[in-house]
Amino acid sequence: MEAAGIALVTGASRGLGRAVALELAARGFEVIATMRRTADGDSLAAEAATRGGRLRVAWLDVTRPDETARALPATLRVLVNNAGVECAYLPVECQPIDDWRGVFETNVFGLVDLTRRAIPRLRAAGGGVVCNVTSSSLLSPVPFYSAYRASKAAVSSFGESLLAEVSRLGIRVLEVMPGPIDTDMLAGSAREPEAAGWPEYRDAALRLHDGRMSLGDLVTPAPEAARRIADAILDDDSPLRVACDPLGAAMLGATDPAAVEGRLRAFVDGIAPKRS
Ligand SMILES: NC(=O)c1ccc[n+]([C@@H]2O[C@H](COP(=O)([O-])OP(=O)(O)OC[C@H]3O[C@@H](n4cnc5c(N)ncnc54)[C@H](OP(=O)(O)O)[C@@H]3O)[C@@H](O)[C@H]2O)c1
Repeated sequence: MEAAGIALVTGASRGLGRAVALELAARGFEVIATMRRTADGDSLAAEAATRGGRLRVAWLDVTRPDETARALPATLRVLVNNAGVECAYLPVECQPIDDWRGVFETNVFGLVDLTRRAIPRLRAAGGGVVCNVTSSSLLSPVPFYSAYRASKAAVSSFGESLLAEVSRLGIRVLEVMPGPIDTDMLAGSAREPEAAGWPEYRDAALRLHDGRMSLGDLVTPAPEAARRIADAILDDDSPLRVACDPLGAAMLGATDPAAVEGRLRAFVDGIAPKRS
């Protein structure tokens, strides 16, 4: 597709969403960078302008669907569903159901509601792209991420059905599956998982933590990931699922069921002896 018309990005206050908003503006889209606190975007328009881009900030909280319609323009070429949250890394038996509700409210229901309101606007523009940001964690069955991973899996299935519905209307659906990207969300995950507080789960939690802390050079800067996301949005021949970083790409390249099962077994079999 041509980089023209309006692109709306959710969760553009920081992290990946902010980088994608700036990148899409630099490519030529007229960007609406949406966020919960518009003051977080005070410098965004000026930043976009330094790269010759056009960007404006608008309020949008994806959990307040009745008010989200205000942020949507009459015609839309690209919707980037980026806003996302995670929750405490707890064993399933200990995770309060309200944690699940909170994660699904933002990552699933908010995304679905905004998308369904955006489709007529994409049609009015003659077609476009819905880009859903899920996670490469879908390809890595680690413990204590069940609510987050289940929410992203729901979006993944939603995207497949949506694609089957709207492709004949000229609307492409893209699922970006990031690996570790250098953002607040990733920084927040560099902690001992809460599950370590339960003796039955401590070994697995510490192993998970070791894996997280060994990411090192595998972390990709958000602007670099944003460039790959913009490339995929503009590529009419892009597959449904794409990576935006080297680790995510390696995982996506090894998605046959045996490889995913192998990663699960490697985790389960490799749980280290108890630490004191
Ligand atoms: N970073 C990674 O390694 C990684 C890996 C895999 C997938 N992802 C996915 O990539 C996306 C971006 O993550 P990130 O790393 O950039 O995270 P982040 O730094 O924590 O930023 C999350 C963004 O989502 C926004 N948000 C949260 N709840 C919202 C709501 N109800 N309405 C509107 N915006 C809301 C936040 O807004 P506030 O500033 O108002 O809180 C913020 O702008 C997420 O979907 C995440 O799951 C990230």
